[in-house]
Amino acid sequence: MPEHKIPMEGASLSVEVRGAGMPVVLLHGFPLDRAMWAAQVETLSREFRVVAPDLRGFGKSTLRFADIDSGIAMEGYAEDLIVTLDALSIFEPVVLAGFSMGGYVAWQFALRHPQRLRGLVVCDTRAVADAEPAAAARLAMAETVLAASSAEPALAMIEKLLAPETRESRPQVAAAVRDMILRQPSAGIAAAQRGMARRPDVRGELQNIRCPVLGIVGTSDVISPPQEMAELIALLPDARLVEVPGGHMAPMENPEAVSEAILEFARSRSSET
Ligand code: MLT
Repeated sequence: MPEHKIPMEGASLSVEVRGAGMPVVLLHGFPLDRAMWAAQVETLSREFRVVAPDLRGFGKSTLRFADIDSGIAMEGYAEDLIVTLDALSIFEPVVLAGFSMGGYVAWQFALRHPQRLRGLVVCDTRAVADAEPAAAARLAMAETVLAASSAEPALAMIEKLLAPETRESRPQVAAAVRDMILRQPSAGIAAAQRGMARRPDVRGELQNIRCPVLGIVGTSDVISPPQEMAELIALLPDARLVEVPGGHMAPMENPEAVSEAILEFARSRSSET
């Protein structure tokens, strides 16, 4: 697997790069790593140069000690992506796909660096900030995983990440998600939860994202439900929404449909130079 290590002050980012052509970047969700995009990397890399980073503190990317207490803001992960693209000498605009937490990061990237973006895919994500109880629950989970020195407390999320039908009829998908969660460092989980707890509501800024946007949502997603995604898609000047059967983890629950949707969108963006 072509893995690149990108040094940063006090940390290092690990990124998988496959294929050639227009860059398509895939940002994973929480508390996961780039392996969640395995099916999409396979399909998209036949036509495009796919860049799949582990966000700071997840997978094989490390974090700075100070990140644990301060948390990592979504803007911080977005700036890491600029560091990553520059290190890979990717200066042309990319198609960026962000899943859930990766979507929170993708909004920040799109708002801060529109000239680096050719098209945006937001998959099972949200634009609102957390309500107070949700933010408090994140801060509590940060404490719990750090106290346990383990990702195990985060396993409770599986119930919401996957549709009941997926958990019952495809235990191998549930097992893959479980293994992925368990291998995440507690420090990375805590830093992300503390960052997400104070992420901004971006709904008022979505009108400023001028590039074409594709939304993808699982029909049974309970974290970023189809109705909520339809509302945020309506706030974007040039966007459409595709619904695919399954829960929140559409890229793993329905890999073919998600790969096809991103592939078709990427093709449409690569023909527009
Ligand atoms: C994710 O899938 O990335 C998480 O559900 C995002 C979140 O916790 O808000």
